[in-house]
Amino acid sequence: MLCKHLVQDQTHVPLLLDPTKLAPFVDPLPLPPVLRADQGTLVRVDMKETEQRLHRDLPPTRVWTYGGCMPGPTIEAQSGVPMRIEWRNELPSKHFLPIDHRIHGAEKDKPEVRAIVHMHGARVQTASDGYPDDWYVPGQSRLHTYPNQQDAATLWYHDHAMGINRLNIYAGLFGNLILRDAHEQSLGLPSGERDIPLTLSDRLLTEGAQLYYPVSGNSEAPWVSEVFGNAMLVNGALLPYLDVEPRRYRFRVLNAANARFFHLKLAGEPSFQLIGSDQGLLAAPVTKTRVLLAPAERVDLVIDFSSMAGQRVELINDALPIMQFRVGSGRVNDTSSVPAVLRDVPRTPESAATNQRLMTLDEYDDCVAEPMLMLLNGKRWHEPVTEKPVLGSTEIWSLLNLTDDTHPIHLHMVRFQILDRRPFDEGEWLASKTIRYTGPAQPPPPEEAGWKDVAQAWPGMVTRIIVRFDGYVGKYVWHCHLLEHEANEMMRPFEVVAA
Ligand code: C2O
Ligand code: CU
Repeated sequence: MLCKHLVQDQTHVPLLLDPTKLAPFVDPLPLPPVLRADQGTLVRVDMKETEQRLHRDLPPTRVWTYGGCMPGPTIEAQSGVPMRIEWRNELPSKHFLPIDHRIHGAEKDKPEVRAIVHMHGARVQTASDGYPDDWYVPGQSRLHTYPNQQDAATLWYHDHAMGINRLNIYAGLFGNLILRDAHEQSLGLPSGERDIPLTLSDRLLTEGAQLYYPVSGNSEAPWVSEVFGNAMLVNGALLPYLDVEPRRYRFRVLNAANARFFHLKLAGEPSFQLIGSDQGLLAAPVTKTRVLLAPAERVDLVIDFSSMAGQRVELINDALPIMQFRVGSGRVNDTSSVPAVLRDVPRTPESAATNQRLMTLDEYDDCVAEPMLMLLNGKRWHEPVTEKPVLGSTEIWSLLNLTDDTHPIHLHMVRFQILDRRPFDEGEWLASKTIRYTGPAQPPPPEEAGWKDVAQAWPGMVTRIIVRFDGYVGKYVWHCHLLEHEANEMMRPFEVVAA
């Protein structure tokens, strides 16, 4: 395992922007336009190239968008009301980011520009799920049907075209879906103008404020295994501010980055309440001062600004501010509330499972003959399906992480719960394929104990999830949501089969 740390090609790296030299908090937080899809009518979204200013003092940046902005429009939907979206590929015929044909799935015989939309977290039939091989080219469109037969949650949509979705998403192809339901609407949570999406991402920006995507210069290991940016964007803006009143706000935070984990807190570390995760409300609010979000994870948090009247409060990732809240000083009467019980989230008992699967997360290091790969179960994407859960059945998947990284593992179509994480002896597994635990099982903390569609599989641990395969028969995918890993084989199909 020697060549894990691959070198980026230093000779072609352009001069990068230094965001610390920019005037902070001069742009208001952009709010993507709202696209109402809660009436059952057909809506149309065009993928297209445009230019967007990420900061007042920067020239516009070339981006690819859904509907003309990055992030794309916030789609508003109502649980139980099906929606139909026509996704039209109106992108140019050439990609403006480098396609690395050495990465599997990016073969030269495929058209350079191809796209397919996946609604992350949605329970849909496979034909509307955005299967990676179902990409289509500029000039074509696809009609996807979303039944919305699921609980209120913050979902998101993004590109999923085989071999290049890390580039398409990096170029700007992502947006939010807010699915509401009557139960949630009855709780009195902050709503309307005080229910705000915060979509986080990071990008490498050149001095001229253009997107730069690195390509490895090492021909023996031609892969940059995670891309991290120098610029943190909130709703597509660099260091924006938001004017708020001294009252409660609900923020739907999404990590839409390729590979970065966001470690968030407010300056001064006042507490806030976590009320939801990937698949909607938690059972009860959890009071925290920090939150960690892996790529593709969502968290709903309520910040009460009433004790911060007149202040400016930064939202901080690691040690650096990424945006600022400007709290007004007027008196307001806040009628919102955060009830002590949000909804019933019954824990799925282990005894409900009729099947157990062991899934390894592996690195394949043979830097001389092959590029490094990340694999699930030692298998590549195009090998035949090996996971065929029965529709309506419940399974426990044990994710054995044999790598040094945390991998955010996502399953399409289903929601699941995290059972526990437990350290195990990797050497013994490699030698004899037996699991010897080296410590006690750790149940998920309350903020991870709700319904999830992404689970952080920590290194050196077996992470167990329990999944009921409710929904539809057909072929779906599960994968690591670090997009560079996903592109280089850390994605596999699974097929839900009829009982
Ligand atoms: Cu966020 Cu396979 O997706
Ligand atoms: Cu990964």
